[in-house]
Amino acid sequence: MSVFIGIHVGHNASVALMVNGKIKLALQEERFQDIKNYQGFPEKSLKYIKQYLDTEKLTIDEAAFSSTNCPIFESKYPINHFFSVQDFHEYYGEKFYSRALKNQNTDKYLSKLKKDVRFKNTKNIFSNVTKNKDLFNNYTKFRIIVEGNLKKIFSNKINKISFLDHHTCHAYYGKYSVDVKEKKFAVVVLDSMGDGINQSIWINDPNKNQLKNVLRNSQCELARIYKFITLLLNMKPDEHEFKVMGMAPYAQKKYYMQIYKDVFKNILKFKNLAIVHKDRPRDLYQYLKNKLKYHRFDNISGATQYYLEKIVLELLHRIYKKYKINTFFFSGGVSMNIKMYNTFLKDKKIKKIYNAPSGADESIPMGACFYLNRKKISYPLENLSLGMPMIQKNHSLKKILKENFKKNYKIKFNSNPREVAKLLIKNKIIALVNGREEFGARALGNRSIIANPSFYENIKKINSLIKSRDFWMPFALTIRNENINDFIKNPKNSRSDFMNLSFDTKEKNFKKILAGCHPYDRSVRPQFLRKTQNEKYYSIITEFGKLSKTYALLNTSLNLHGKPKSSDYKSVFYTFKNSGLKYLYIDNKILVSKT
Ligand SMILES: [Fe+2]
Repeated sequence: MSVFIGIHVGHNASVALMVNGKIKLALQEERFQDIKNYQGFPEKSLKYIKQYLDTEKLTIDEAAFSSTNCPIFESKYPINHFFSVQDFHEYYGEKFYSRALKNQNTDKYLSKLKKDVRFKNTKNIFSNVTKNKDLFNNYTKFRIIVEGNLKKIFSNKINKISFLDHHTCHAYYGKYSVDVKEKKFAVVVLDSMGDGINQSIWINDPNKNQLKNVLRNSQCELARIYKFITLLLNMKPDEHEFKVMGMAPYAQKKYYMQIYKDVFKNILKFKNLAIVHKDRPRDLYQYLKNKLKYHRFDNISGATQYYLEKIVLELLHRIYKKYKINTFFFSGGVSMNIKMYNTFLKDKKIKKIYNAPSGADESIPMGACFYLNRKKISYPLENLSLGMPMIQKNHSLKKILKENFKKNYKIKFNSNPREVAKLLIKNKIIALVNGREEFGARALGNRSIIANPSFYENIKKINSLIKSRDFWMPFALTIRNENINDFIKNPKNSRSDFMNLSFDTKEKNFKKILAGCHPYDRSVRPQFLRKTQNEKYYSIITEFGKLSKTYALLNTSLNLHGKPKSSDYKSVFYTFKNSGLKYLYIDNKILVSKT
C-alpha cells in the first residue's frame, strides 16, 4: 500500500490523494471556502483528506508540496479575493510594481495594504509574518510555516514531507492526465511563473517511464502578457483571461496584425527552444498600457491571441526539428487557452495534441503524486469525478429533499433520463446534479446546467436565470462519443473528454448545436462523452438524441455568477434556490418549481 498527498498553496489552492498509483481525491479549496480560485493554504481540503484517511484506516507515506519557492505575500494577502480592477491597476502600475521596477520605495503601499480592512478580517497561517522583506523572498519561512501547519492537521502522522519543483509537477500531471498508448512525446509546460521559471520542455523516456527535462527558462512571458492584456481591458487578471480568448475571434485580421507588429512582435524571441527577451521593456505593464491606449478591445484581444498561437506553434515546430517528436502534451496555466489548439490541430507537422484538463496550478498536487510514484505504476486519469460526493452515504436524499423543497416544488421521485430529455425538447433549462463533483474548471455532467443546443434563445434564458455571462462568450457542448463526426471537424482524431480542445464545426449540422458554440467563428469546445465515464449523463443525451436526432447538449457549470461550481448538496440547493432555475434533476429525482 502506498499513500501520497500533493498540496498546492497559493492561487487556486488544492490537494490530491493518491493510493496505490491511482488518484482518489482532487479537491479545490475554493469549493470549501466558497471563494472562486481561493488563494492561500488549503486547510479545509486537507482536513477532508484527513477524515477520509481515518475512515479508510490509511496513513500517509509521503506528502509533497508542489513548489519549493513560494512568496508569502500572495497567501498572506489574497488580493484575488478582494481586489477591484482599479486595485489591480494600482498594484501592477504606478503605486506598486512600476515603483519597484524603478527601485523606488514601496513601503507606503504595503503599509496601506496591511491596514486595508478587507485583509484585516482574513486571518490565515501567515498572519504573524509582518516584515515587508519576508513577504517576497523568504521561501524558507514559507516552507516552515506550511510544513508546520500540515503536521498539525495530521497530528504528526506523516512519514515524510517534501517540497517538489513546480514545473516537474506540471509536467508529470500532463503525462498522466490522459490514458493513451503514446510513448514518444514531449510535454510542454508554459505558465506565469513557478519556482522561478515559466517554460519547461520534457521528453518522455519510455524505457524508464519517466520524463527527461530538456529545457528550463525564466523569460517566456506569454502568460504575463496575456494577464496584463486582461487587466488593460479592465477585466480581472489571473481569472478572466478566457474572456480575452473568447473576444479574439471578433477581431479583423488587418487591425490585429497591425497591433501584433507594432506592439507584440519584438518583445520576445527564440533562442533554440527557449522563448526569451528580445526588446522586452523593463515595465511591461506600462509599455502595453501606453502602446494600446488608442486601440479597440476586440482587436487587442485578436492580436494577443494571434501572438500566443504564433509563438507556441513555432515552439512545437522547433521541438519537432530537434527531437523528431510531433506528439505534444500540454500543461501549465497557458494550456488553459483552449482556442490555440484549434490552430495546432490544423498544422500538418503536428501528429497529436493532448491537453491536460485544468492544467493551471490547481492540478499540480496530482502531478506531485504522479512524480512521487514515478518508479511504480501510475494510472492515468479516467474521469474527473474526484471531488466531494453530493451527499454522504448514510444520508437520505429523499428526506433532505422533502425537508428543503416540499413547499414550493413538485418533487417527482424515480424519474428517468427520458423524462429529462422530454423537458429539454421543450427548451427547459435543467440543473443536473449527480455523484461526485468534478475537479477543475469545467462541468462535465455532475454539477451542470444542460439545455437544448439547437435553440439559440437558450443562451439568453440561461444568462437571465443564473449565469450573467458576458455577451460575447460561448457556452460549451457535450457530444456523445459515437456522434463526434456528426458535428465537428477532427482531422487528427483527437480526444477532448474534458472540454480541453477546440474544433471547427461542420456546416451541415451547425444549426443543431449553435447555442453550444462560439457565436462568431462557430468553433466549439466539446466534451466527448463515453458511456463508461458518466452513465447517467450519457443516457440523457441518448434519450435526447432519440427525440431530436441531435446527440449533443449545451452544458455549462452550475454556479452563481462569480462563485465556484456548486459542490455538495447544500451548495447545490443554495445555488438552485438563489437562481431563476426551475428544474433540478438530482439522483433520479426531478424537482419542478411551482412558481
Ligand atoms: Fe504553474
